[in-house]
Order: sequence, then structure tokens, then C-alpha cells
Amino acid sequence: MARPKIALIGAGQIGGTLAHLAAIKELGDVVLFDIAEGTPQGKALDIAESGPSEGFDGCFKGTNTYEDIAGADVCIVTAGVPRKPGMSRDDLLGINLKVMKSVGEGIAKYAPNAFVICITNPLDAMVWALQQFSGLPAEKVVGMAGVLDSARFRHFLSVEFGVSMRDVTAFVLGGHGDTMVPLARYSTVAGIPLPDLVSMGWTTQDKLDAIIQRTRDGGAEIVGLLKTGSAFYAPATSAIEMAEAYLNDQKRLLPCAAWVDGAFGLDGMYVGVPTIIGAGGIEKVIDIKLNDAEQAMFDKSVDAVKGLVAACKAIDPTLA
Ligand code: APR
Repeated sequence: MARPKIALIGAGQIGGTLAHLAAIKELGDVVLFDIAEGTPQGKALDIAESGPSEGFDGCFKGTNTYEDIAGADVCIVTAGVPRKPGMSRDDLLGINLKVMKSVGEGIAKYAPNAFVICITNPLDAMVWALQQFSGLPAEKVVGMAGVLDSARFRHFLSVEFGVSMRDVTAFVLGGHGDTMVPLARYSTVAGIPLPDLVSMGWTTQDKLDAIIQRTRDGGAEIVGLLKTGSAFYAPATSAIEMAEAYLNDQKRLLPCAAWVDGAFGLDGMYVGVPTIIGAGGIEKVIDIKLNDAEQAMFDKSVDAVKGLVAACKAIDPTLA
């Protein structure tokens, strides 16, 4: 059987890292697309030349024309601009919305059967716009945010508890922004929920609150350190986890920015929720029960996402 084809739209920091990870994991043949001439070609060649030492096979192509993504099984979108210190993800909206229009049209024309993972920020609004511009089925267009936010939460928790990250599970819902909702009750160390670990005296509520806030600020912390751009290793790894779930029909239960219509009392919008990813794309949205405090945080996050979508519609009336 032919190798799957993975198209990476945007060959910047995240795009290059995605290509390298896809190569090392032998997920398929990789096409790197970017408007910058030379960048995708250079990265594709550089990665191909790492194959003999690393020991992987695959074709790696850099391109500036959408035709080359034809028939892609998976498209991962990072085209656009990242934030700089002092900027919020929402500050990127105007520029990146235009980028989503051209990317959506390119995917619709050349890769209409792909599973599309959007990473471009502000995530929840951009994945919505990408689905609108591309016209692909909503279950095939998804945003990468919850896997990354949960990974950050898991990392901080593993350091706090002094246990392997493998034994820490964490749940982060809502929009990929300051209003994201890290759910302590549904986050565990080897199955023991975080509130129980506080009761057991393994940590304190204050420390847990600080970790939750650090998770919310996780992207900004990296932007502040890097100064010239935003995080790229962990965002790329998170999207590859989602791509693998689709390509290998793994039925992974992962938090993603998915189209939610009915669940969580929502009537049609993109926001971070638990989903099952398999060969059908987003096969299910898991409608978990929230307590009053969690629901209030989730509602606030939903409102923030709705505000961003309204801002998109104001900029581009064709989206209304
Ligand atoms: N079509 C294709 N590629 C584009 C377009 C476009 N219309 N506009 C910009 N690009 C390319 C740029 O040339 C650049 O190579 O997108 C790439 C973005 O790469 P970086 O600037 O390195 O940004 P990166 O760190 O990869 O982040 C990309 O993901 O997490 C989000 O906030 C982040 O929105 C940002 C995106």
C-alpha cells in the first residue's frame, strides 16, 4: 500500500518540526508548503538528508504551489504569523484570517478528503474559519490546542509530584486562550484525581492553583523566553499525536477544538472538548458533566471564542 501523504501548510518553526517528527515516525511522505520561496524546499531537503543516519524512508518535498498537496491524507496548518512578547493570540486574528482563506481554498481544491488539523492562532476562531473557507465536513477539520494545553499541565504536575509524565493524565477544555479550563477533577496521577492528592497532603491547593494558572499562561511563558516567536516543539508533537490517531484509526480520546453541536448545550461552534479521533476524523464529542464552577469557567471561555468568531465575521462578511 502506498505511504500516506502528509501536507504541512506552513513550513516555519512548527511546520519544520512537524516534518521532522513525521519523518522519524515514518508516518508517510511529507509535502511542506509555504509562500516563502526556498524555505520549504530547504527544510524538506535537510530532513531527507537526515534519513540515512536516523534510518527512515519517505519522500520529502518542499513547494510553493498548492498542486503539490494533491490527494493528501492529512493536512496540518501552521501558515500565518506567531505572536511576539506582549501580544495575545487574539492579536493575530486579522492577519491570520486572510491566511486561512487562501489555505482553505487550496485544501478544498487539492485535498478535499484530508483530515485537517489547524494550529494557527487564535486557534478556535481560525479552525472555524478554515472549515468555513474550505467547506470540508466539520468532523474532518479540527484544531490542535487541548492536547498541548493538557501536555503542559501534565508536565507541571509530574514535576510537582516527582512522578513520570506517563502516569499523569490531565484534561483541559475550552478555548485555547486565557480562559482555557484545566479540569483538576478529571486530572489524575495514576488514576488518583488531583483533589484527592491535595486531601492526601501530596500537594497543596495553592500549589495546584499556581500550576493551573501556569498552564493557562503556558504559551505566553515560552513567548516571553524565546522573544522572537512562539512554542514549536510541543505544539508539533501534539498535532502529530492527533495525526497518528487518525492515520492508524486509534480511537484516541483527545481534547481538541472540534465542532460541537448539541453536546455541552452548544448549538454549533468550535471549542475545546474531549473527542474520539479515529479513521472517521472526529468520531465523537464526549459530553462530560461539569460542576457549577467548571461550567461557569467553560461558559466564559465559550463567550471568548464567540467574540473572536464575531470579530472574524466583521472583518470578512462572506463568513457571516
Ligand atoms: N500560506 C502559506 N504559508 C504562509 C502564509 C500563507 N498565506 N502566510 C505565512 N506563511 C508561512 C510563513 O512564511 C512561515 O514560514 O507560515 C509560516 C509560519 O511559521 P513561523 O512564523 O515560524 O510560525 P510558527 O511558530 O510555525 O507558528 C505558526 O502556529 O502556534 C501557531 O501562533 C502560532 O499562528 C502561529 C502558527
